[in-house]
Parts: sequence; structure tokens; C-alpha cells
Amino acid sequence: MEVDLWFADYAALRCEELASSSDGILDTEELARRNRFVFERDRRSFAVSHVLLRRVLSRYAPLAPAEWRFDFNTWGKPRIANPNLERAVYFNLSHTRGAALVGVSYDSEIGVDIEQTERDASCVELADRYFSPTEVRALRELPSSSQQRERFFELWTLKESYIKARGMGLAIPLDQFSFSFPPGDTSSAEVTPRISFSPTLGDSPDVWQFIQRPIGASFRAAAAVRTSPGATVQFLWKQTTGDFV
Ligand SMILES: CC(C)(COP(=O)(O)OP(=O)(O)OC[C@H]1O[C@@H](n2cnc3c(N)ncnc32)[C@H](O)[C@@H]1OP(=O)(O)O)[C@@H](O)C(=O)NCCC(=O)NCCS
Repeated sequence: MEVDLWFADYAALRCEELASSSDGILDTEELARRNRFVFERDRRSFAVSHVLLRRVLSRYAPLAPAEWRFDFNTWGKPRIANPNLERAVYFNLSHTRGAALVGVSYDSEIGVDIEQTERDASCVELADRYFSPTEVRALRELPSSSQQRERFFELWTLKESYIKARGMGLAIPLDQFSFSFPPGDTSSAEVTPRISFSPTLGDSPDVWQFIQRPIGASFRAAAAVRTSPGATVQFLWKQTTGDFV
């Protein structure tokens, strides 16, 4: 089974053109959301990520970008609402300052997260507050503050990818599940960590697969996909450039 992960670095895109195409591509609700942003920078970023999302989706079914319809679960996760697609398409979008990530799978529920890692963050304090005790212990045992910082973003993106794949967002407490990593410094590598759950979540590690990696010096990304036990998942990273037509 394949999962495509489309990374969009806004510095490599023709953002002006993408944003100005949004009037003809986004639906009424998206346009209303776009127009509610106070700052032009935020309006443009929303427009670019949602135009990109629609263009990416049009690679997976014979629909034009403007033809995609969405509905939302109780917690706000968007899913495709177009009837009569030959094959169900699952997707998830994440954006951060300067970039976006779209994950697409034909077969399985997916969640993705991308974070810009250059921002100031009190990593250990945030970890203490939100992550599981096992994760906090492993993070604190890392020898340098730079390794702790890298681990914090590894965990953050992975945890977000899981709660987004479940579609429940922060209704799932972040300390009720834990990721463990292979020994050694994982910070510059692509890793496939293991998850474990507290019994309260009633979930099974056998049906989940994850990927996590840095992208350049500024971003870190993760994806989660729900599979059948034992399934082989291939995560394929793809890059968008120009106006991505
Ligand atoms: C909404 C949430 C699911 C992710 O939010 P986020 O990390 O701020 O934002 P992302 O850019 O990764 O994802 C937003 C996109 O996910 C999708 N989304 C919205 N609700 C979702 C849900 N319940 N499940 C999955 N995806 C969802 C939407 O496409 C949304 O994009 P849009 O707002 O442009 O339409 C939720 O988990 C949240 O609010 N997280 C807060 C992050 C945080 O504080 N984490 C603490 C870690 S220390």
C-alpha cells in the first residue's frame, strides 16, 4: 500500500499565482474562511494551501480542483464528499509558517503534521506538560539540549499525525499514547517509530504505521496511517514546485 506525502515549501512555489487562482477554485466556505483572516499574509497562506490541496487531490481522481466537495466529522476533520468516486480517496492537510504538507492514500485513514522548527519553543517544559511520562523520561535522558529539541519536534509531529489520523484532534489526550525510537541519534534520519497506548484509548499498535523525518533545516514532518495488521506501507515523499499545475 502506498501513501503519498506532498511537501510544499512556499519559497519554491509561485504563491502569488496560486493565491490569485483561489477565487475560482475554492468553495464558498473556504472563501469565507480565507476572507476572515485579518492579515494578508494569513489569507494568502490559507489560499495557497487549499488550492494546493485541491490540485493534489485532482491527481487521484478525474475531477478538476474546483469540483472537490468536503464534509467534516464532529471534530472538524475534512473528508471527501463527492459521490461516485471509483475509489475512496483519504487525505489530510497540515500547514506551518512557510510550508504545507498533504498526505493522500487510496485505502486508509491518514493524518499528517508539519512544523517549522526554527521557532522559539520551551521544549522540555512543553513536553512535561503534554507528553507521556515515558516520552518525557526518554527526552530528558538525551545528552544535549539540541538533541532534546529535535526529539521534541519528532514527538510533536508524530503525536499530531496520530490524533489527526483518528480525526479527533486534541479530544485525544496527548499523554495517553507514547512513541519509542530506535536507540541512538535519530534527529537527521527518517524513522519509523513504534506507538503504544494506554488502555483508556482502546487502540492497537498493530494497525498503525508512522513515518517521521526532517525536511531541510527548517521543517519536520510526520504521517500516520491506519492499516490492517502486517500490511506493508510505502511512504512516498513528493515535492511541489512552481505553480504546480
Ligand atoms: C486541529 C488539529 C487537529 C491540528 O491543528 P494544527 O496542528 O494547529 O494544524 P495543522 O496545520 O497540522 O492542521 C490543520 C488542518 O487539519 C485539518 N483538520 C481540522 N480538524 C481536524 C481533525 N479533527 N482531525 C484531522 N485533521 C483536521 C484541516 O484540513 C486543517 O486545515 P484548515 O484549517 O486549513 O482547513 C488539532 O490537533 C489542534 O488544534 N492541535 C493544536 C496543536 C497543539 O497545541 N499541539 C500541542 C503539542 S505540544
